[in-house]
Amino acid sequence: MTNSSRAQPAVRPKIDFPGAFGYHGAHGARFSGENPHQLIAVSHPANPSDPFGARLAAGDLSLFDAVPSQSSKGDRLSWLAVQAAVRARGEGYVYLEIGSHLGGSIQQHLADPRCRRIFSIDKRPLVQPDDNRGACYYEGNSTERMMLNLRAIAPDADARVTTFDADTRELARDVIPEAPDLCFIDGEHTMAAICADFDFCMAVAKPDATFCFHDDFIAYPMLRAITRQLRERNIPFTARKLDGMTFAITLRGGPGSQDPVINSLGEDGLAFLERKHRHDLLVGWIPVKIRSFLGGLLKK
Ligand SMILES: C[S@@+](CC[C@H](N)C(=O)[O-])C[C@H]1O[C@@H](n2cnc3c(N)ncnc32)[C@H](O)[C@@H]1O
Repeated sequence: MTNSSRAQPAVRPKIDFPGAFGYHGAHGARFSGENPHQLIAVSHPANPSDPFGARLAAGDLSLFDAVPSQSSKGDRLSWLAVQAAVRARGEGYVYLEIGSHLGGSIQQHLADPRCRRIFSIDKRPLVQPDDNRGACYYEGNSTERMMLNLRAIAPDADARVTTFDADTRELARDVIPEAPDLCFIDGEHTMAAICADFDFCMAVAKPDATFCFHDDFIAYPMLRAITRQLRERNIPFTARKLDGMTFAITLRGGPGSQDPVINSLGEDGLAFLERKHRHDLLVGWIPVKIRSFLGGLLKK
């Protein structure tokens, strides 16, 4: 666990994903046609005693302005929708994230008065393996730098954010003393790491927690395995392919599963995973020479 205060300048991440706002995502998800801002407002009506809820209801993307995040506008809207659903219980919630980098996907929760506690697990390697891109480079990657960014949003950041410079494969389950309502998995993008991160989250989270995965265009084979495993274990769940590159699973009828906004975003998660799987099978059958001739036609 770290609680560091060494000041380092915030550095913009190298990767800047193209914006996907405008009701369709960079990798295929589409809103159902209704304006999701209006849907959030209807589903979570503004309450004068909850001004932060009104910002979520308005789909206020300026909540991401303080710290750079490696995410598209579509991702951010998806994350706000999930946050609105999880906090709607009104009793406060706990957020756990694997893969935090500069703190860009923590900031909207840290700004939320209903988010009582945040756990951030990040091994902080300078280079990380990646099943799709080979490797990703994170220059100057440190928890100190992230905390510097987060303190600028909330002076009580040190009290609310607990950080672990670790891989979930090295962490005991009891380091998380309060069960998270929402887990976000965006660490090492390899099948083995995603599997370990999900197992860790399953072990520490609430029984009806919501799990969001980023970069689903890389993670989908693992997501398919995870959903199959949940079915085999008779654990009820809902799965949604949300906008951007975000995929959400909610267990046992939790708040993320009944939310009209989430259910109107993107497409059914299992249908998305089967479509990707069928596409891979098809491409696998096509001889390599023909595959390179067809090129972009096979991309989806
Ligand atoms: C894609 S970035 C996270 C971006 C962040 N969620 C955002 O939206 O701005 C991936 C992060 O995962 C961390 N990471 C790499 N390998 C890891 C591992 N094995 N376990 C945990 N975190 C890891 C990296 O240090 C990096 O900060």
